[in-house]
Amino acid sequence: MDYGKVISQESLSKDIYSLWIKTDMCADAKCGQFVNVYTKNSSKLLPRPISICEIDRDNNALRLVYRVTGENTGTYEFSKLNSGDTIRLLGTLGNGFPLDSKSTMLIGGGIGIPPMLECAKEINGEKIIVLGFRDSDTFLVDEFKKYGKVYIATEDGSMGTGGNVLDAIAEQKLFAERILACGPTPMLRALKAYAAKNNIECFLSLEERMACGIGACLACTCKSKDVDSHTNVNNKRVCSEGPVFNALEVEL
Ligand code: FES
Repeated sequence: MDYGKVISQESLSKDIYSLWIKTDMCADAKCGQFVNVYTKNSSKLLPRPISICEIDRDNNALRLVYRVTGENTGTYEFSKLNSGDTIRLLGTLGNGFPLDSKSTMLIGGGIGIPPMLECAKEINGEKIIVLGFRDSDTFLVDEFKKYGKVYIATEDGSMGTGGNVLDAIAEQKLFAERILACGPTPMLRALKAYAAKNNIECFLSLEERMACGIGACLACTCKSKDVDSHTNVNNKRVCSEGPVFNALEVEL
């Protein structure tokens, strides 16, 4: 367990907050990993797993961008933190994304967008960025533009391609050797099928499936391709064996 000190906090769009935290744990942090953030409310013993949006190794700071999921929730409590406040953290946790491809398509949907920002920053090869939002209430877009060409899809058609990230990929005729993606399960399922059909290497972060983040609740298990000889099924815990998996390894 570690403690972090809040450097700054700002609201990026409706219910989406950005928190910079001073913490020693960023020395070994990798994009695609997450940290567990603990509330002060003793009735909520389980932490909130939040993905790492940016790593500032020079200043020992991590950026967490998260969605407030309602009043009286842990994330609501976090949204009230101010500069100088102390916060209890565990991390960094999880495996992270591979970053070594010649060309990569980075795809984020909704609250799966933040972890793709550090990937966009760290990948040296060619990269294309595709972001999916519900509507024009977007966030982080200008920051992604610093690292590559950004394509946007909105479900209501108010910005970019009307539809989802796959509609944007088809409309813009986008292609890369590898896909890295994070977002809601239906989006990841569609990307897994798209990648298989087009023979593209694909890594998916299943962080939406996480709950406690510490291996305690088993809410995060997903079916994997490897078959357990005993039961004929094999489950992987997203929080401890992921959250990033080769799409070929998991069933969604
Ligand atoms: Fe609880 Fe993985 S999120 S066991």
